[in-house]
Amino acid sequence: MQFDIALIGFGTVGRGFVELLIEKKALLKEYYGIEWRITAISDLKLGSIINSKGIDAKEALRLADTGRSLENLSVEKRGLSSLEVIRESSSNLLVEVTWTNLENGEPGYSHVKEALNLGKDVITTNKGPVALYYRELKELAKKRGAFFKFKGTVMSGTPSFNLIEGPLAGCYIESIRGILNGTTNFILSEMERGMSYEEALREAQRLGYAEADPTMDVEGLDAVAKLAILCNVIFDLDLKPKEIPRRGISSITLEDVKESLSKGKRIKLIARAEKIEGKLIAEVKPIKLSLTDPLANIMGVMNAINFKTDCLGEITVIGPGAGRRATGYAILSDMINIAMNRR
Ligand code: HSE
Repeated sequence: MQFDIALIGFGTVGRGFVELLIEKKALLKEYYGIEWRITAISDLKLGSIINSKGIDAKEALRLADTGRSLENLSVEKRGLSSLEVIRESSSNLLVEVTWTNLENGEPGYSHVKEALNLGKDVITTNKGPVALYYRELKELAKKRGAFFKFKGTVMSGTPSFNLIEGPLAGCYIESIRGILNGTTNFILSEMERGMSYEEALREAQRLGYAEADPTMDVEGLDAVAKLAILCNVIFDLDLKPKEIPRRGISSITLEDVKESLSKGKRIKLIARAEKIEGKLIAEVKPIKLSLTDPLANIMGVMNAINFKTDCLGEITVIGPGAGRRATGYAILSDMINIAMNRR
């Protein structure tokens, strides 16, 4: 299958994806019959370019990594808005990796809707449109015969809800419990090693884990958005992030972390959801876990989800939940999934 890709957003995740596309070009062709071209890139800071014959991906990376405008490249069109790029580029796949906005999902929501309306497949790692408009976008994709994939919104490239489509198909999921935010888990882990809350947050930002607005991480909004996505996919609901009670980690001190450890407990920001007699109970809050709990030993930027299933009992998936390469991989894995399904 030939993918002509319009990439909206060319920050950490977008670039991580393009690096993998280049690195795995031969493998994609040989094993999955996938060929690709990037026919458009639009980024708020780096400019917008369209080239129907394909953009030089290595050169685009080089310019972006040195903070120079993509409009320096020799292309057919430049300077269009992101929506114009979606409409005017000859692309059959939109990769939407702009920033997450949990108020109204914009600008990602409009990007995704525009592309699906045009019958283009969409892959996004942007939690806003999925957490707020999952049902609507899923139905729109179905109506237009397009794929709408968003694996990277939860646990980046580490398998999460996509397990339900494949390896866990046919299992009934009774409950989920997880560490879904890498930034807060990183901060809590570093605090245990003596770093202050502020220093640890700065380090998480430097490493590219935190959201553009890190209060989304530390106040639990990011985890709530991911929990809403998980619940909607797994339990087929239309739950909104605002409906989930939440508490973040901003009030946790070094003393709290040390005191818990001295009592054989570790503080973790836990997202959990369970269906009890048909009613969903969901919440995000810091919990003192006993050190024997599998989630207590998930450290740093690692994420984990524990699924309680009817056929297999408990299954815990552990893996990176953020980062350039790990989230870039989520997009690549969705792309392969689309190609396999289109065969
Ligand atoms: N800020 C998010 C996190 C990025 O720290 O988990 C991945 O969604």
